[in-house]
Amino acid sequence: MGQPGCPTAGPRPRPCGIALFLLALIPLTVASSAKSPLGRDDERFDEELVVRPLSGDHVNTYFQFTTRWHFGHKDNLYHTQLTPRVIAELLQQFDVKELHIGLTQGLWRYETWGYPIVEATSGAEMWAWFSGDNNLTDSEVNSQWSQLANVFSGVLCASLNFVDKTNSISPRHLLRPQFMPAANRKNFVRYSALPREIVCTENLTPWKKLLPCGSASGFASLLNSGHVHNTKYHSLGLKVRTLCEDNSEDNCIVELTQTANLVYDLRLFEQSSSSSSNGDFSLRRLFGMGLNGYCELAESSKMYVQRNEQGERYQLVPPPSPENEEVRSTRGGHTAIYGVYDMHEQFKDHGERLFNVAWLAPKSENRRRNMVKPTPPPLTVHRYLLGHGQERGRIATEITNSHYDALPILVQEVIPWYVHGYLHTLSVRKKPQRVNEYGRQRIPFKLLHYKPGKQRELPSHLEIGFLLPGQTSALITIDVDYLLLKWLEYPPDANHGHYIGSALVSSQLPMGRNYTALPVEGYLFRDSFNATRPSYVLSLHTEALIVSLPTPDFSMPYNVICLACTVVALAFGPIHSVATKMIIVGKPTTTTPKNFIKKLLNKVFRRGGQPAAEGAGKGAGTGAGDGEESREGAAGDAPPGESELPGTGHLDDQPLLEDLEEND
Ligand SMILES: *[C@@H]1O[C@H](CO)[C@@H](O)[C@H](O)[C@H]1NC(C)=O
Ligand SMILES: *[C@@H]1O[C@H](CO)[C@@H](O)[C@H](O)[C@H]1NC(C)=O
Ligand SMILES: *[C@@H]1O[C@H](CO)[C@@H](O)[C@H](O)[C@H]1NC(C)=O
Repeated sequence: MGQPGCPTAGPRPRPCGIALFLLALIPLTVASSAKSPLGRDDERFDEELVVRPLSGDHVNTYFQFTTRWHFGHKDNLYHTQLTPRVIAELLQQFDVKELHIGLTQGLWRYETWGYPIVEATSGAEMWAWFSGDNNLTDSEVNSQWSQLANVFSGVLCASLNFVDKTNSISPRHLLRPQFMPAANRKNFVRYSALPREIVCTENLTPWKKLLPCGSASGFASLLNSGHVHNTKYHSLGLKVRTLCEDNSEDNCIVELTQTANLVYDLRLFEQSSSSSSNGDFSLRRLFGMGLNGYCELAESSKMYVQRNEQGERYQLVPPPSPENEEVRSTRGGHTAIYGVYDMHEQFKDHGERLFNVAWLAPKSENRRRNMVKPTPPPLTVHRYLLGHGQERGRIATEITNSHYDALPILVQEVIPWYVHGYLHTLSVRKKPQRVNEYGRQRIPFKLLHYKPGKQRELPSHLEIGFLLPGQTSALITIDVDYLLLKWLEYPPDANHGHYIGSALVSSQLPMGRNYTALPVEGYLFRDSFNATRPSYVLSLHTEALIVSLPTPDFSMPYNVICLACTVVALAFGPIHSVATKMIIVGKPTTTTPKNFIKKLLNKVFRRGGQPAAEGAGKGAGTGAGDGEESREGAAGDAPPGESELPGTGHLDDQPLLEDLEEND
């Protein structure tokens, strides 16, 4: 089992053979709050909107609302102003230092869109750091964790209440805290993802209610559910962290960051409107309305419009505020240019009006130019399922490094309990980027942490680290078995399949190309300007997978019911009529019963009749010697035109017989 030289499973494996590069990755990235511009008891709110045209006629709009409050001591948390009450109470009740929640619909396409400002996986995702100051035990943290999930399930109207120990793990290496962790004290972290969660209006409305201005004014007024949920990708995020200065618990800042990250597909707009624009768009077009002002409680209210890369070809109407027309930001050797609209300026002296910005593409431009695939970012990830059938399969995660130099990679997998992974089948193979097939060449692990799952109780948790050479792809595979669930464990739509959440991949980029995330010590988007650092921590999510577990035929009871009902219904009619109809033996009539059933009954209940009247009846006057009977039989069996008898002479005779009888 496992790789030589590396311990495998166990409650506390000591990763051995970690190269220096990984040590550089593992230490906690620490937020320095010492440079906080806040005075005591200060509270501020900022709103920002970033518009980035992406390749392939997509537009990324990123909203960030940040509330920062220097509350000092924990007792002051009772006196909230801009910070929502629920956040303050959360810090009082739980030992939470940092909390992240993401609610996302859609998939971020790294190859064509670059990296997002805030990373998220589709469905719901949540992780939290708990401070270990109060001598918390593991089980206390677990109970706080599920209570916390329940609180936010109510606050955001999301199904976070399904977060429990069957889908939560304690990440060991990959997630780094963004607060100041007290030196050599224990911190606890819990992570959970619910890939099945569907994000919709009922999440957006409570999310907006956490803002100081609600959705009445400011950038939040643009977030209307009709337009937000029409996008190709939308992600709501919520991040809370506490930063304590000088390592003291009496001098703390709470920071609440709410983000909304949307990607619009402009081609969809063109189809819905008759005008044949060539990639033009405007705020009104994207959000259905112009901006009605800024939030009065906001310290700053700014819109940043990217002017380089895909944004270069657009002309802005009106142009950005003249004072600081363009912000040039060079980060890790990569320059970005933003046009800035300050809403405080825009709404300084005008009365009631709506503010709108239009992006006009040059009319003569060849549309195809925009369709050219951009250079992919340095690191991209994908995931898929191999194998067929409902018994076993293989999870494959592919990581491509298109940078020329090697990159350290950490991968975190959470495999749900209904899928059994086999650690001895875990392998990382590599191939040069240009080659299509993976050979036998393996990449050695630098780090392996595996916590086996337990049926119905714990997910398997796997973290691996390795060094991925430049211009190379790595394929991580692990063989799995699918479990046969108990029949009550299937969801209502059992044939939809079961989800395996996305894998988290983390790395450190040496340069800032395509990198847009905020630096960890900053809290506004503008803190990422000129934020050159020795390295840039990148974290990516792969796609989530759907596996079809062996599913019993849940339609079987239904089929049985249908069949039984059909039989009963068919039987009821004849039995009812037999049981209720009075059978009177009367003078046989000569008229032929038209109805098949009557005909049948006629035959069955004929007194002393010959059931086999077909041919025998023709013999006339058999056992009973009753002339009438045999005549009747003959008449019944040979209605005019239906007879199969070869001789037609008989038929001609019959009306005569009938006539005779009637004359009697
Ligand atoms: C990544 O950055 C490079 C360099 O600026 C740029 O040319 C390319 O278009 C970017 N790729 C994406 C997918 O944004
Ligand atoms: C935690 O435990 C240590 C020793 O085990 C003790 O000295 C300390 O006072 C405890 N802290 C709290 C907050 O209970
Ligand atoms: C970033 O640095 C460049 C060069 O030093 C400077 O011109 C620019 O104004 C800076 N940008 C910001 C936002 O400070």
